[in-house]
Amino acid sequence: MNTIHYSQCWEDPQTLTDALNINPADNVLSIASAGDNTFALLLKNPVSITAIDINPVQIDLMELKIRAIQYLNYEDFISFLGYRKCNDRKKLYSYIKRDLSDRAREYWDTQSRKISRGIAHCGKFESYFKLFRNFVLPFIHSRENIQQLLSSQCFKQQEVFYNGVWNNIRWRVLFRIFFCKFILGHIGRDPSFFNYVSLQKIAEELFERSRKGITEVPVKNNFLLEYILTGKIMSLRNAHPYLLPENFEYLKENVGDIQLVTANLIDYLRTLDHNSISKFNLSDVFEYMSRSEFEITLNELIRCGTNNSSLVFWTLFVPRKVPNKLLKKLKSSNLLANKLRKNDRGFFYGSFNVWRIIAKQKTQSYPPLEKIEKL
Ligand SMILES: C[S@@+](CC[C@H](N)C(=O)[O-])C[C@H]1O[C@@H](n2cnc3c(N)ncnc32)[C@H](O)[C@@H]1O
Repeated sequence: MNTIHYSQCWEDPQTLTDALNINPADNVLSIASAGDNTFALLLKNPVSITAIDINPVQIDLMELKIRAIQYLNYEDFISFLGYRKCNDRKKLYSYIKRDLSDRAREYWDTQSRKISRGIAHCGKFESYFKLFRNFVLPFIHSRENIQQLLSSQCFKQQEVFYNGVWNNIRWRVLFRIFFCKFILGHIGRDPSFFNYVSLQKIAEELFERSRKGITEVPVKNNFLLEYILTGKIMSLRNAHPYLLPENFEYLKENVGDIQLVTANLIDYLRTLDHNSISKFNLSDVFEYMSRSEFEITLNELIRCGTNNSSLVFWTLFVPRKVPNKLLKKLKSSNLLANKLRKNDRGFFYGSFNVWRIIAKQKTQSYPPLEKIEKL
């Protein structure tokens, strides 16, 4: 496992933070991936936050982003990541690498190409989008068309443009070829990511989700779509929260508090105390598990979660339904999930799910006996 699969997070951070509604008493557990969404959760000032990933190089990537936040000024940080031009990213790396863990330093010392290109672009998935942008999209649309789509101001404009210009025959054919299961599986993701996928018409499904994303979700501040189509974020005002200038000082001061863990989620949950986590960001990890592993993980989440804690997860191609027998302990926040889903800029997902852990016995939060006596 030494491939960086994701150098950016592809779930919408707004959907995530609105769903979890972090408060200063929260203890958060978040799937690390590229780190971006854990940074967005940190910005909500929880009492503790842990980022976990089964893939060690995803944690190495997150660690490097943490050091870049801590040691660089805002302009250099943005340039180092690759969102703005930079003449010498290797020089910036040699400045920030001193406090990397031995493992992360050993990894990054051998990755000078990734560093030179900017680490926000180095994931396998981001490279797949680059192939699309450089070798497929130019045969479908001109730069003017792309800009016109991205500058649409309302749904009506988006829909008219999609139907009249965007959805031409080349889009319909080349999209379905490039995003078919074989090419997506081998070049964009990994064939093993499809182990539990029974959906056959992957390209067809993604085509329909993209139509919805382009016509039914506002595109004018959709930095995920802008990146897929242009490889850039023109206005950092519209970017991911961890890239916004006004959040940089807070991140600099607090990003060192994130605890990084390389482990399988289920193994890590087993090490945690009962009632120790109040908010869970689970990305779409259930996609990569069998049904029984999903159920075992849910049971562990229920054990570790506090009463009324929230957990969120997306699904991509594998629908995951909470088993009936757990419905006494988990309550769906369907209304909230559906409301947030309407504006979810990560339109390629199949579903967004928010659940609350309910009816738990309080095993930890009683004050010690002597305090009760004084009351
Ligand atoms: C779940 S993936 C999803 C990325 C993106 N949303 C997608 O669908 O392509 C995000 C991260 O979860 C990590 N991951 C997957 N299964 C995991 C597990 N069982 N425990 C911990 N991390 C896991 C992966 O290594 C990856 O970095």
